[in-house]
Amino acid sequence: MKPEIYIKDLAKHTGQEVTLKGWLYNKRESGKVKFLILRDGTGYLQCIVFKGNVSPEVFEIAEKLHQEAAFEVTGLVKAEPRAVGGVELDATGVKLIGASEDYPITPKDHGVEFLIDNRHLWLRSKRQVAIMKIRHRIVKSIRDFFDEHGFTLFDPPIITPNASEGTSTLFQMEYFDLGKAYLTQSGQLYAEAGALALGKVYTFGPTFRAEKSKTRRHLTEFWMVEPEMAFYNLDDDMDLAEEFLEYIVKSVLKNNLAELEILERDITKLEKIERPFPRVSYDEAVQMLKDEGHEFKWGDDLGAADETIISSKYDKPVMVHRYPAEIKAFYMKRDPENEKLALAVDVLAPEGYGEIIGGSQREDDYDLLLSRIKEHKLPENFFSWYLDLRKYGSVPHSGFGLGLERTITWICGIDHLRETIPFPRMIYRNTP
Ligand code: 4AD
Ligand code: MG
Repeated sequence: MKPEIYIKDLAKHTGQEVTLKGWLYNKRESGKVKFLILRDGTGYLQCIVFKGNVSPEVFEIAEKLHQEAAFEVTGLVKAEPRAVGGVELDATGVKLIGASEDYPITPKDHGVEFLIDNRHLWLRSKRQVAIMKIRHRIVKSIRDFFDEHGFTLFDPPIITPNASEGTSTLFQMEYFDLGKAYLTQSGQLYAEAGALALGKVYTFGPTFRAEKSKTRRHLTEFWMVEPEMAFYNLDDDMDLAEEFLEYIVKSVLKNNLAELEILERDITKLEKIERPFPRVSYDEAVQMLKDEGHEFKWGDDLGAADETIISSKYDKPVMVHRYPAEIKAFYMKRDPENEKLALAVDVLAPEGYGEIIGGSQREDDYDLLLSRIKEHKLPENFFSWYLDLRKYGSVPHSGFGLGLERTITWICGIDHLRETIPFPRMIYRNTP
């Protein structure tokens, strides 16, 4: 790669003359001095253009630079303890690269609809850049974690012939002469084939749900990471989930304090995310709700309000396990202690952020799985390969799915999922 200098490394170049390229984040001026705030994607730098130090042409270019104009600046790197990166630049030259006039997003407040309409530009703002950097870090920490723990990346198909998580949220398409096909809701069923080939695998990619719910927790296209492990039972699954979450949070705390500060995140909340996490059975959760005087019928799924009540009792993620089988997916194994329960787990993030992980031990018995497929009225012919996994060397196995955007929302401490993915897809929005 060609040698390049970026703002984040500038302190190393104190006392040297450097040339940097980027965009005008902001500008202040007072008579003979222009303070240009340059952003280059790695940081922000104050460049001081002093009339007495530069040619009249250069001063005029600095004068005419508008918000988000692209430019090149040359100058001397000076230590400045009050600046964010500890340095500023005494400019000697400024060159315009790409003009920008009437940039639509100004420092004043804009409504969120306006900002999403301009998502392609909104992404340049300090807050959005911070969120994208944390997203990057979380993705990297996910890959590092599985790499360090003996997992193999396993890529499932996006186009699938059937549902895995229930038929109500499928995006449909016509698939040549083969009839209807669907965008995947989860790579899990394929990951199970992978686990029986490779032991421990994980899938990581976009998944799709035609969710009719217009909430701040739902996207129609979101990223999910799904580990699947041969010879793991539900307890092993929960052990892995808590180690995994702790690893992700620690990695963000280690690498992204500057971004968390931009987001005004209370990091003391994140510093508490250490194993072990509380484990509460569905039965106990129902009792907790009743003790709070909250009406709740055994057998119902936990709604967002219920989850908030439960998770507010803890300052760590809470693992709710053993749900009524009726409200869970067909592939989950029943609890041998109580046939009405599925060996399922949902992990609820603290501070009211709700479910970030859903997982389970899988049914590994051929006959039981076949009867579940029939009960759920699923097309048996499409599941013959999945049943084969229970016919040839079936073993106990488990896994879970972590929603990437929900995890970012929680770690960043923001209100809505739409800011955690570059171009959000929601029920009322598929642009830009
Ligand atoms: O609980 P879910 O539906 O579980 C599965 O899909 C399993 N197949 C996972 C597995 O065991 N391998 O989804 C898993 C996670 C949820 O906990 C949530 O974080 C996220 O995916 N999620 C969504 N995120 C954003 N928008 C949506 N519409 C989401 N639906 C689920
Ligand atoms: Mg779920």
